[in-house]
Amino acid sequence: MAILKIAKIGHPILLKKTNNIKDLGSEKIKQIVYDMSETMMDADGIGLAAPQVHINQRLFIFRNPDIDSKDKIEITALINPKIEKISEETEDAWEGCLSIPGMLGLVRRFSKIKYTGYDLNGNKITNNAEGLHARIVQHEYDHLNGILYTSRLTHKDAFGYAEEIEKYC
Ligand code: NI
Repeated sequence: MAILKIAKIGHPILLKKTNNIKDLGSEKIKQIVYDMSETMMDADGIGLAAPQVHINQRLFIFRNPDIDSKDKIEITALINPKIEKISEETEDAWEGCLSIPGMLGLVRRFSKIKYTGYDLNGNKITNNAEGLHARIVQHEYDHLNGILYTSRLTHKDAFGYAEEIEKYC
């Protein structure tokens, strides 16, 4: 396993659309998932998309906040994902990103979504998510389309250093 370098905002790979993965369940994909998991845990993140580690493919990982606790951390890998909203309801919350360290932005996301994709063994995943779980999946999915949360702010000023926002917002 290896800790990978994380691309920061300004790097062009973060603005590119990614390619579908064809070799589902391959050792190569598993290795990427293991390295990304190690990288995310090292950076204390809750989600990480392949373009953030300079890999231009449709894959992201995230920690499921419905299961996460100090004792048990579950990392889900989602390959070639598709998402759809299952209600029009939205919610606004502050989001961070490992590619925009130290900053937070207020972002509106759908409250409830359905997502599908494949796990690292090539098995189909179908799940419904709401709240933080739904937010993480929408954030990571955006990365696969070259979209950072800074282009989804509820208002252009709803962005700043976490240490200030935690004090004043
Ligand atoms: Ni991010």
